[in-house]
Amino acid sequence: MNITKICCIGAGYVGGPTMAVIAQKCPHIQVTVVDMNVERIQAWNDADVHNIPIYEPGLAAVVAEARGRNLFFSTDVDQAIEEADAIFISVNTPTKTYGKGKNMAADLKYIELCARQIARVAKNDKIVIEKSTLPVRTAEAIKSILDSTGNGVQFQILSNPEFLAEGTAVTDLLQPDRILIGGETSEAGEKAIAALVAVYANWVPQDKILTTNVWSSELSKLTANAFLAQRISSINALSELCEKTGADVTEVSRAIGMDSRIGAKFLKASVGFGGSCFQKDILNLVYIAKSYGLTEVADYWEQVIIMNDHQKRRFANKIVQTLYNTVAGKKIAFLGWAFKKDTNDTRESAAIYVADDLINEQAELAVYDPKVSETKVLQDLNYLQSRTADENQAAISYFDSAYQACQGAHAVAILTEWDEFTDYDWQKIYDGMQKPAFLFDGRNILNAAAMEAIGFVYSGIGVVSSE
Ligand code: UDX
Ligand code: ADP
Repeated sequence: MNITKICCIGAGYVGGPTMAVIAQKCPHIQVTVVDMNVERIQAWNDADVHNIPIYEPGLAAVVAEARGRNLFFSTDVDQAIEEADAIFISVNTPTKTYGKGKNMAADLKYIELCARQIARVAKNDKIVIEKSTLPVRTAEAIKSILDSTGNGVQFQILSNPEFLAEGTAVTDLLQPDRILIGGETSEAGEKAIAALVAVYANWVPQDKILTTNVWSSELSKLTANAFLAQRISSINALSELCEKTGADVTEVSRAIGMDSRIGAKFLKASVGFGGSCFQKDILNLVYIAKSYGLTEVADYWEQVIIMNDHQKRRFANKIVQTLYNTVAGKKIAFLGWAFKKDTNDTRESAAIYVADDLINEQAELAVYDPKVSETKVLQDLNYLQSRTADENQAAISYFDSAYQACQGAHAVAILTEWDEFTDYDWQKIYDGMQKPAFLFDGRNILNAAAMEAIGFVYSGIGVVSSE
C-alpha cells in the first residue's frame, strides 16, 4: 500500500498547517485540503499568501512553496475523497451544547457527516485517519458507519492525533517530539499503519514514529493534553497562595522546574489556559470516566477545569477590587485577546471570560490585539449569550494601536503574552492614563520594579502587589 494522494477534510488550525507541511516535505504526494466553508478556501487560495486564514509564524512560506505544486485547497469535497488513497478527518469537534453530555461530551456530528460522505463517495479501498481530537472509541463509530453504509469498499481506520501547539505549529510539525499512529492489530491494519509511517518518514526519524493500537492512540492524546493543562492549573493554584504568603510564583516555578523529574516547561502561572483543546479534551476525559462509573477519576480531572475557571474569575475580581470595588464607567484597556501569543485563534481565550465579568460590572473595555479583529472579539462575547449583541457592542471599543487603547484608561490588563507588549514605551502609556494608573499583568511579562518606578500600581499573577 502506497499513499500518493491525500485528502484532508477541514481546512482549519489543524488541517491547514499539517497538510501544508506534509505537502512541503513530500513533493511526490498530492495533497488536497477541502472545506465546506467557501470563504475559508478562498482565503487559502488568495494570491497574496499573507492573506491565508490562519496566522502561524512560518506558515505562509510553506504554503507559498507547495501551493499549486502538490498542495491544493478546494470546496469539492466529493472529488477529493474519490481520488484519495488516504483521507484525514480534521474537522472541528466542539463540546456539545445540547442534549446528553451537554457542556462535556464532544459533539461528533461533523465527524459523522464526514464518515457518511466518505462512505457515499468512495469507490476504492481507503485509509481513513482521525486527526481531530476525539473521544476514545470514535474510530469504532466511524468504522461502523463506513462498513454499513459503504458499497463494499474496504476502509482502514487509523488514529493519528495532532500534537502541534498553535503559535509554534510549523516547527512542531517539522520537528515533532513524536508521531503517534494507532491502528487495528490485523494484517490489513498493519499495512495501513506502514503506509502512513512511510509518509512521515520523509522527514521524521523512524524512532520518533510510535505505533499503537487505536484506543491507546486516542487516549494518549486526551491524556497528554490533560497532563499539560494540569501543570498549568497546579501552578495557578499555587499562584493564589503565593499572593497571600509573599512567595513569588516565578521563583517557585524556576525552583521546581530545575528538578529534572518535574521539568521546566508549562509552569508559567497565567490568567488561565485557553485554546480549543485543553478544556474540551479534559471534559471529554471526565465524560468518558463518568460514563464508565469512575466518579473519582472524573472528579480528579474535572478539578483542573474548576481551578482554571477560578483563575480567570479571580483576575477579573482583582481588577474590580483594586479599582476601589467599582469599574462602572471606567475605561479598562485589554492588551491581547488571543488565547496565547503568535496566533489569531481566540477559542476559550481567558480574555473572553475576564471581559464578560468586567462588562457585568459595567466597565468600558478598550481592546487591542495585534492579530484579532473587532468582529472576532464581538463574536466571542456574543457567543456567551450573557447580554444582547448591541449591549456588547456598546461595552467594547476596539483600537488598532495599544497606545490609543490605553489613552485615558484607569487600568491596563495584559491578557496575552505578545512579544511586542514588552517593547512598548510604558512611560508614554503611563503618561496618557488616569491616575493612579493600574497595570494588571495576567502573563507576568513585564518587569514589576521597572513598572513601579514609572509610577504604575502593578499587579502580576502570583506575586504580592505593592498595594
Ligand atoms: C495544546 C497542546 O500543547 C498541543 O500539544 C495540542 O495538540 C493542542 O493543545 P495549544 O492549545 O495550541 O496546544 O497551545 P499551548 O501552548 O498548549 O497553550 C494552551 C494554553 O495554556 C494557552 O492559553 C497558554 O497561554 C496557556 N499556558 C501554557 C499557560 O498559561 N502556562 C504555561 O506554562 C503554558
Ligand atoms: P481545528 O482547530 O480542529 O482545525 P477549525 O474549526 O479551525 O478546527 O477547523 C475545522 C474545519 O472543518 C472548519 O473550517 C469547518 O468548516 C470544516 N468542516 C467541518 N465539517 C466539515 C465537513 N463535513 N466537510 C468539510 N469541512 C468541514
